[in-house]
Amino acid sequence: MKMLKTLAAAALALCAAATVQARPLAEIEKSGTIVLGSEGQYAPFNFFKGKELTGYEIEVAEAVAKKMGLKYEWKTVGFDALLTGLAQDRWDLVIASHAITDERSKAVTFTLPHYCSGGQIVSMKPEIAKAGDLKGKVVAVQTGTTYLDAVKKVPGIKDVKNFPTDEAARNALGSKRVDAWVTDKFVAKEMLAKVPKAGFKTGDMLFVEQVAAAVAKGNQGLADAWNQALKALIADGTIGKISQKYFQEDVTCK
Ligand code: ARG
Repeated sequence: MKMLKTLAAAALALCAAATVQARPLAEIEKSGTIVLGSEGQYAPFNFFKGKELTGYEIEVAEAVAKKMGLKYEWKTVGFDALLTGLAQDRWDLVIASHAITDERSKAVTFTLPHYCSGGQIVSMKPEIAKAGDLKGKVVAVQTGTTYLDAVKKVPGIKDVKNFPTDEAARNALGSKRVDAWVTDKFVAKEMLAKVPKAGFKTGDMLFVEQVAAAVAKGNQGLADAWNQALKALIADGTIGKISQKYFQEDVTCK
């Protein structure tokens, strides 16, 4: 009986979540503040410097919000809770390095991309550099990412180990619990620059992707306003400057 009650409560909660309406642009404008969701464990895109959430896409989002005439409030949670939080109206927009994929596009509406990148092989052995070299090897990736999807498709992989954060996947490689790690090429670039003596080596790119913010499915008014502000900030060089600060190159999509 108790079990039944718990089940009924869970079903109700699900229904409630499904009927929650995302805040349309007019409502966000009326409140004056957009609620933004991110992860905070994915340097240099979104991370904590002490208590301050910062990074390339954090600064991009703050510039876009300002351009839209809005104040912003950040919420940070684990990567896998971010997109579902949109449907539950926990935040208005998610910016956490999500690539635009068909699968995700079924559940959320993507904005225009704020960078173009891709998944890259990182290992500590020079002989593991290409997709074919992953045959018979153990590879670490963050759960719920496009890296996981890509690695699963590489024929002959011995095992794919999932980690809740990308940092944990990197640490697994650092302590040689796995043979390789697949991550974003700019994450890898920054990490190699930071710890050049750690022995990490970058190999081939497995795939390329466009990375964008996401709003609740069908919240088109908000996506349009975001896109307009983002385009203006790309055109006037604001985004390029933020990009140079973090990557010493322009990471926007050409
Ligand atoms: N770009 C990859 C994807 O779309 C990884 C994103 C990881 N993001 C993060 N905040 N840890 O899945």
